[in-house]
Amino acid sequence: MSSTTTVTVPEVALKHGNARPMPAIGMGTANFPVVHDTIRDAVLAAAELGFRHFDTASMYGTEPPLGDALAEALRRGLVASREEVFVTTKLWCTQCQPHLVLPSLRQSLQNLQLEYVDLYLIHWPVSLKPGPKVFPAKREDAVPFDFEGVWREMEECHRLGLAKAIGVSNFTTTHLDKIMATATVPPAVNQVEMNPVWQQRKLREYCAEKGIHVTAYSPLGGQNWSGEGNAVMDSEVLAEIAKARGKSLAQVALRWIYEQGVTPIVKSFSKERLKQNLEIFDWELTDDDLLKVSQLAQKKMVTAAGFFSSEGEFNSVDLADMEIVEA
Ligand SMILES: NC(=O)c1ccc[n+]([C@@H]2O[C@H](COP(=O)([O-])OP(=O)(O)OC[C@H]3O[C@@H](n4cnc5c(N)ncnc54)[C@H](OP(=O)(O)O)[C@@H]3O)[C@@H](O)[C@H]2O)c1
Repeated sequence: MSSTTTVTVPEVALKHGNARPMPAIGMGTANFPVVHDTIRDAVLAAAELGFRHFDTASMYGTEPPLGDALAEALRRGLVASREEVFVTTKLWCTQCQPHLVLPSLRQSLQNLQLEYVDLYLIHWPVSLKPGPKVFPAKREDAVPFDFEGVWREMEECHRLGLAKAIGVSNFTTTHLDKIMATATVPPAVNQVEMNPVWQQRKLREYCAEKGIHVTAYSPLGGQNWSGEGNAVMDSEVLAEIAKARGKSLAQVALRWIYEQGVTPIVKSFSKERLKQNLEIFDWELTDDDLLKVSQLAQKKMVTAAGFFSSEGEFNSVDLADMEIVEA
């Protein structure tokens, strides 16, 4: 358990790799456009409140402000040592080629001012031609994903001690099968969209069998990534549960994820909401609450189709092979 002045955050032991235990809630840093000082200050506020688990990616452009904030938190004594924090970053699709994996992690470590990350993830089961990071991606830039070669290099990052644990993100059971067929060090984590309106039951069952810990991005429904609003924060059922428990709707969503054995990665840059998001460990949902959540209509916000521009053609790959919606 990591102790703070305000909250004691439980930790989860990962089954693969040799990372320190993962604090059971993480702070997300994806936010566009990137405003360096805003992100650095938000991470400092989070560290002061008790967050010890931070999520970034080379794609987000938030490695440099996160690195600055962690260095400052250590200088100020908000965090006692590097070992006290758990930092995740991710390999972007334009670097999903065996020879680019290790140089990409080295660049991320430089951005973060760290000697190692606790967790390095393949961001998407999508490989794009090397080049600038563009979103949405061009269809003609998608190339076949060399799962065996890329995972071998992820294992090399781990062997060198640059990533204490390695894993994947947005992988379905089909993608995971391809990694499991070749892995010497299995993925420790699969980070996927998960919240009360996208519960990922099939994927979670598979991951539990293989000892892969699931972390949940967009636990509050995200930042309107799909342009279709937010089915979590607008849920009347969740609002009713929140009222009955004397908690906020966001806390109900985060608590529900935690009770499923999954670690929420939640983004807030507001001190008040960061504090609220940490206060989910000393109360419980009732059986009736859990039943109501289990009956919510399901709706996924992030899809492979939404990742690509609607124009152009796929040359050498099928969109279906990259789809992140579990059948
Ligand atoms: N692996 C992937 O492909 C992937 C994809 C998406 C995200 N992620 C990671 O997961 C993190 C979280 O996901 P996300 O950013 O999509 O969405 P999220 O955490 O579900 O939602 C973030 C939004 O909720 C608001 N919020 C936070 N706490 C709140 C509270 N207590 N009450 C009301 N509103 C609250 C935030 O606004 P304020 O800042 O104003 O509080 C922000 O607009 C990202 O930052 C990123 O690190 C990974």
